Amino acid sequence: MSVPRPNPVSPAAVIVLAAGEGTRMKSQTPKVLHEVCGRTLVDHMLAAARELDPAQLVVVIGHARELVGGHLAETSPDARAVVQREQRGTGHAVRTVLEEVGTIAGTVLVTYGDTPLLRGETLAGLLVRHAEDGNAVTVLTAEVPAPTGYGRIIRDEAGAVLEIVEEKDATPAQRALREINSGVYAFDGLLLADAVKRVSTDNAQGEEYLTDVLSILREEGHRVGAHVAADYVEVEGVNDRVQLAFARKVLNRRLLEAHMRAGVTVVDPESVWVDVQVTLEPDVTVFQNTQLRGATHAETGAEIGPGATLTDTRVGPGAKVRNAVCESAVIGPEAQVGPYAYLRPGAELGVRAKAGTFVEIKNSTVGDRSKVPHLTYVGDATLGVDVNVGASTVFVNYDGVDKHRTTVRDGAFIGCDTSLVAPVTVGDGAYTAAGSVINEDVPPGAIGVARARQRTIEKWVLRRRAGTKSAAAAQKALAEQEQQESGT
Ligand code: UD1
Ligand code: CA
Repeated sequence: MSVPRPNPVSPAAVIVLAAGEGTRMKSQTPKVLHEVCGRTLVDHMLAAARELDPAQLVVVIGHARELVGGHLAETSPDARAVVQREQRGTGHAVRTVLEEVGTIAGTVLVTYGDTPLLRGETLAGLLVRHAEDGNAVTVLTAEVPAPTGYGRIIRDEAGAVLEIVEEKDATPAQRALREINSGVYAFDGLLLADAVKRVSTDNAQGEEYLTDVLSILREEGHRVGAHVAADYVEVEGVNDRVQLAFARKVLNRRLLEAHMRAGVTVVDPESVWVDVQVTLEPDVTVFQNTQLRGATHAETGAEIGPGATLTDTRVGPGAKVRNAVCESAVIGPEAQVGPYAYLRPGAELGVRAKAGTFVEIKNSTVGDRSKVPHLTYVGDATLGVDVNVGASTVFVNYDGVDKHRTTVRDGAFIGCDTSLVAPVTVGDGAYTAAGSVINEDVPPGAIGVARARQRTIEKWVLRRRAGTKSAAAAQKALAEQEQQESGT
């Protein structure tokens, strides 16, 4: 049982800035709604923020606010959306929040909606530093190899933080500095509320810079500090699709490493992609070129891949899933799927059941030890245990208007190339003859034969296909047969 652990540095509020347009994404989708590893950028930030147990969670929205607001209402009902109608700068965004929700006493953490790599523990580290140093504001900084575009941290000879200077306002000497402002800060809420009102727009961009709060507070004699992030990659935001792909790669690697440390074998971490909600038990093996999406869960000993794409699918212990696409499917213990199988929503395989090559199963239960090995469509059906379905069987579930169910009971044997025209039932232990179109129930133990009797027309090919290779082959065989018959 897990007891909620009290967080000694829980902030009074986390404010996530997400009003900007994100023009460099060149997208119809608002930037913060782009996804990496099964979660939108803003939801990644909110997940990290929740690890701090904040009393309030606020997201500033502006550009595409109907879409972003609608998304948040769905995924994060605990977050309050505040609309910033015009994006007049990061300082203006925070001022807008405080005007709407009122002054917040206690620590206020400000961060962005486009930094999905920022970890909860890094934010906690910032809060601890902020509390221990008794600061009015503590900024999260990082030493980066390419600081262009970021605000630079200006320190005095003793190393104390003086101010943050934006790229566009910086001198060449300041631009050479590699310690940058991540845009994440812990503030004393009361001091922030007062100082943010006094931020001017007297700068190269004519914006209200939140960064100015630092120098305002310092000049008034308050303590201003910085916390340097251990890994600068965490503070890198997503501004275009190149950075989106980079964030996905880093996050995916992080998730895979956690799975590997917990006992999962990932044969080729470069070609395996997982979503954040995926859960894997120890001794699961994931082979190359595999994607595990949504709430996919695999139990111990399961082997997934190569070439599998599983979404919201449960894989039982010891099951094998190769070259398959599975969506909202349930795969039983030691069951086998693929190669080249498609399990659609509602497909459920029992213990040691099989869905083999070129098999599609939808909204159907396949009982324990039942096998659907080759070239078959199973739709809207219930198969009992120990059923064998011959190659090329089609469960004809759709009459053009409605879908109907087929039932195949325990131990039944469906001959190859059977069409089962639903609604229809094949009884316990019953057979269908190969090539049958079954549209009437087959009682237990009976065989349903529903195909035309064969008619054979002797020497048809010699007459009607004279001069072909077939005719020549037939002629040779018939001549040999005659010789043998006359010779003995
Ligand atoms: C900001 C910082 C800079 C820092 C950088 C880190 C300021 C003045 N500068 O610069 O020092 O190095 O972030 O990435 O703060 N936003 C709003 N409303 C606004 C303006 C911005 O919600 O009116 C949001 C944006 O959606 C974005 C974030 O705030 O998520 C940062 O805004 P942006 O304009 O990109 O700031 P930068 O110029 O990158
Ligand atoms: Ca930015």
